[in-house]
Parts: sequence; C-alpha cells; structure tokens
Amino acid sequence: MASSLLHCSDKLPFMDVEAILHMKEGLGETSYAQNSSLQAIVGSIGRVCGRRSSQPPPEFSVLLNDLPTNDFNTIFFSLPEFTDRLKAAAGTDEWGRPMMFLSGVPGSFYGRLFPRRSVHFICSCSSLHWLSQVPPGLFDEAGRPFQRDFGLFLKSRAAEVVPGGRMVLAMLGRQTEGYIDRRTTFLWELLSESFAALVSQGLVEQDKVDAYNVPFYAPSIGEVEEEVRREGSFRLDCVQTYEISLSSSGDAKEDGRTVSMAIRAIQESMLSHHFGPDVVDALFHRYTELVTESMEREEVKSVQIGVVLTRL
Ligand SMILES: C[S@@+](CC[C@H](N)C(=O)[O-])C[C@H]1O[C@@H](n2cnc3c(N)ncnc32)[C@H](O)[C@@H]1O
Repeated sequence: MASSLLHCSDKLPFMDVEAILHMKEGLGETSYAQNSSLQAIVGSIGRVCGRRSSQPPPEFSVLLNDLPTNDFNTIFFSLPEFTDRLKAAAGTDEWGRPMMFLSGVPGSFYGRLFPRRSVHFICSCSSLHWLSQVPPGLFDEAGRPFQRDFGLFLKSRAAEVVPGGRMVLAMLGRQTEGYIDRRTTFLWELLSESFAALVSQGLVEQDKVDAYNVPFYAPSIGEVEEEVRREGSFRLDCVQTYEISLSSSGDAKEDGRTVSMAIRAIQESMLSHHFGPDVVDALFHRYTELVTESMEREEVKSVQIGVVLTRL
C-alpha cells in the first residue's frame, strides 16, 4: 500500500515485509550503496568528530540498524574508506582523532534494538515511511497502521534513549492533512504509468499490477504530532515539512537516471518477489524515461518531514 496512493485490493497477497524489504545489496550500479545518502551522513559525522578541542577526543559508539536481510557486509567493507575520511577530516595528529566504534544491529525498529537507557542520540533518515506490514488500507480493524507503527517506534526508543537524549527523524511525508499530495504521489504515479506500458506490451498481467501493494505511508505533520503526544515519552522540539529538489544537477537525463536508480535500489526486492526478477529491467527502463521527461518539463521535488525530539 502506498499511503493513499495506490489502490488497495481486498485480498492482499501476503508479503513478509521484514524478510522481503531490503535495499539492493552489493556495490553495483543499481545497488543501494551507490544510490544512498550514506556518503553525506559519513561526511557529517566525520566533520563533527574531526573537530579538535583541548579535551581528549570523544569516543563514539555508532550502532547501525537495519532489517536482518540488509547487506551489512557492504557497509562493513566500506569501513576502511570511512576511517580514512575520518582521519583526513581530523588531520594527521594521532591524538586529535576521535575514536569510533561501529557495529551493526539487525532487527526491526518497530521493536527493541538497544539496551535500556544506553543511547544518547538517534538519527533515522528515509525509513519511517516504511510500515511493518502491508495494511489492508488507510485503516484496519485495529486503527491506523502508521499511528500504530510510529507509536511502537517511539515506545521502543523511549526505553533505550537516556533522559535528555535526542532523536532526529526524517521521512517522506505530506504537506496536506488530506490524503493526497501530488509531490508525494508523483513518483508512484510514474511507476504506475511504467507498469501500464508493460501491461500493454503483454509483459505483465493487469491483475498482478492491481495486487501489488507496498508497505509505504507518507504521514502529515498532524499525524506525527498526534502520535508523539499520545505516546508521551518525548518532547516535540520541532516538526516541519521541507522540499528536496530531485533535479539536483540540473541535467534532466542525469537526474532522471539517479532518481530511477535510487527507487530501483529500494523497490527491487519487493518487485522481484511479486512479479519475478525478469520484469525489473524493462520496468525501470520505462521509468527512467518517464522521470527524465518529467524533469525536462519541471523541477521534481520530494516532501520530507523533519522531527526533533528530546527524551523526557
Ligand atoms: C531508503 S533506505 C534509507 C537508508 C538510510 N537511512 C539513508 O538515508 O540512506 C530505508 C531503509 O530502512 C530500512 N527499514 C525499513 N523498515 C525497517 C524496519 N522496520 N526496521 C529497520 N530498518 C527498516 C530498509 O531496509 C532500508 O535500508
């Protein structure tokens, strides 16, 4: 289910999200490692850690969480490069270099991940719009799936973050309190159009497309605020939407390809599971064309929600 975006069929084919949703592994052209914001995060951490002071440099324990099916190996393989960047940022002085201890924590963030009261800072980017399961619709018998999942996330982190500790969350969101926001639905609509092309070529059956639902929900500010208040463990310091231009280089062909590869890295495991691996190349060939054409016409932007929270 793509928030309010894709139609939901009555009978959902079962998708075990924790087993199937994972970013494209490895370091290939369509892998997530080549199409993610990891580089930017590494750069920021390096700059902060590289700052010198008269005090001995701090020691950081960095815990990288993702679902168990994530390709943690690729992240660990890139550790020497990461350490080199850190050294470069800190200069050559052996004693001016902060100590960084990295570990991987496989598990769903909709449950406990870290020991009680052990974490000072949590950063989650581009992840909380992925729900724990494909819901039957915007509502189910137990209420609103996003509220339930986000509430579980907050409750789990509340146990782990020390009083005064901070969380910075960024996820795809809506600028409207109504369920439709064109900026949020736009790239999904282009994916639907790409599927329509495959159906007309006889490569995919329409029924199969109608039954494809993903566990995606882009919340509004109001929905985030409401759940933070209801759960009650965190003070909401800031919540706001902001737009990110996806036409970053200004070259529609290059930007179209970058966006298409990023979406492919995220969705490929789910698409292959549902349609089989053979359709993916054809689908993203058409998708790249459509995204590029859109970028030639207009600046394409995504809507993000940024949230800063303090543990009470
Ligand atoms: C779009 S990627 C963002 C990765 C990274 N934070 C970044 O900004 O580059 C979303 C990530 O969330 C992970 N994810 C989705 N649901 C999750 C869950 N319930 N628990 C832990 N990780 C999850 C996915 O496996 C994927 O690696």
